[in-house]
Amino acid sequence: MALFRLGPTSESATCVQGEGVYLRPPEMRDFEAWAGLRERSRAFLTPWEPTWPGDDLTRTSFRRRLRRHRQEIDGDEAYPFLIFREDHVLLGGLTLGQVKRGVVQAATLGYWIGAPYAGKGYMSRAVRAVTGFAFSNLRLHRIEASCLPHNEASIKLLERIGFTREGFARSYLRINGVWQDHLLYGLLESDPAPLRLPKREQG
Ligand SMILES: CC(C)(COP(=O)(O)OP(=O)(O)OC[C@H]1O[C@@H](n2cnc3c(N)ncnc32)[C@H](O)[C@@H]1OP(=O)(O)O)[C@@H](O)C(=O)NCCC(=O)NCCS
Repeated sequence: MALFRLGPTSESATCVQGEGVYLRPPEMRDFEAWAGLRERSRAFLTPWEPTWPGDDLTRTSFRRRLRRHRQEIDGDEAYPFLIFREDHVLLGGLTLGQVKRGVVQAATLGYWIGAPYAGKGYMSRAVRAVTGFAFSNLRLHRIEASCLPHNEASIKLLERIGFTREGFARSYLRINGVWQDHLLYGLLESDPAPLRLPKREQG
């Protein structure tokens, strides 16, 4: 994992380098690729996400989203990222949100991959890279994640990275319009690094 600051157009934007992927906060120039990938992935993503607002994929809504992101990053509340392949193709997104400081020092991890890029190991690489950012740069003690008990891809991803299943929360998040039970996972800064990453694939 490497971290660097982007050039003058992106001022203080943080970029996280992973193996074959890199992550940086969304910018207005990402709108077309982001909206296109989300639209193409709608059927794949909607069972696992909060209901998309009617105007979600519009430029206006994206602009609002970026404004909110800026405030969150500046306030050390959340760190949203888009995930790109080495050739700059947008693959998906990932957020370290709900940052809690004080005696907690934790954040909540959320993620999505575009349907055409699912199952190729990209999210494993992105999450792996962002855990380094969370523990080294943000100096967090803990990363939390939750997922639906039947979300096999998400469970495998978290367990491969080294997250531990810590609990079960009833009716925890309103996903796809329904309050649903969730498995709770946690990764500590002191947990051992994962043993393996998936083979690299292109496509
Ligand atoms: C969960 C998600 C981000 C995983 O991204 P990905 O890039 O496909 O993940 P990877 O390719 O790195 O694979 C991670 C693990 O999941 C497994 N996996 C991937 N897709 C799978 C599927 N459809 N069913 C079962 N396992 C699957 C992989 O084999 C791998 O397991 P392994 O380590 O045992 O080989 C992606 O499936 C997704 O965006 N799903 C829809 C939205 C979502 O679920 N968001 C998270 C809500 S908690």
